[in-house]
Amino acid sequence: MKYALISDIHANLPALKAVYADIRRRSDVSAVYHLGDMVGYAPWPNEVTALIASSGIAGVAGNYDSTVATDYKHCGCRYEDPRQEELSHLSYAWTRAHVSADTKAFLGGLPFRIDLLPYGGHVAGPRVVLVHGTPTLNTVYWTEDRPDDFCLKMAGLAGMRPGDTIAFGHTHKPWHREVGGMHFVNAGSVGRPKDGDWRAGYVLVEVGEGGVEVDFLRVEYDLEEAERAIRASELPGDFADHLRTGGQPASTSSSR
Ligand SMILES: [Fe+2]
Repeated sequence: MKYALISDIHANLPALKAVYADIRRRSDVSAVYHLGDMVGYAPWPNEVTALIASSGIAGVAGNYDSTVATDYKHCGCRYEDPRQEELSHLSYAWTRAHVSADTKAFLGGLPFRIDLLPYGGHVAGPRVVLVHGTPTLNTVYWTEDRPDDFCLKMAGLAGMRPGDTIAFGHTHKPWHREVGGMHFVNAGSVGRPKDGDWRAGYVLVEVGEGGVEVDFLRVEYDLEEAERAIRASELPGDFADHLRTGGQPASTSSSR
């Protein structure tokens, strides 16, 4: 089984369309799942959610999805300076004001976690676990610099065994590591990458006789359309700049 995993679309409709078209061109992809954060930062929260729903793409609730759905006091996003905090609040307020009742209901109905058993539930494994952040909370950032011990602790909490895989997003930076015979895969971000590459990112995870294979892909999309739509909305123009720079403007050290 070869799974296409898409995460952190963040209301970027042109990026989602480009990634979905790229996936559909691949006849060897067995199934598509999303890892949450469909809304926030860009002006198409309802359109992205509707496309995911109408395409039959199952997935889990990101922190943005679950906080918008439950009217939580903030989006559960990390910020590192006062400007980032301000931007975070502006995005969250805009998104909450613009999601339809249908979108909100759809986001609220997303499961926290999905388990895939490529060989069927009648055998013990291997298992592929899908979450947004970690198996405990969708707000915790599982960055590449987390030590092996952290991965093993999370694997234990998720009930994983050697040969299993856990895939997640939330940090918007793709990475893959094998620890204790288990695979840890961060899918990166479709609609708001932070690794300096503006292109939409997703990952293919193949589980077969030879083990687990992980392939990160990047897809060009209509960046100008997304930038124009952000600037035409009441969202801060900073979010358009973020898309163009892949979250890493040359003039500042970081932009999360
Ligand atoms: Fe996100």
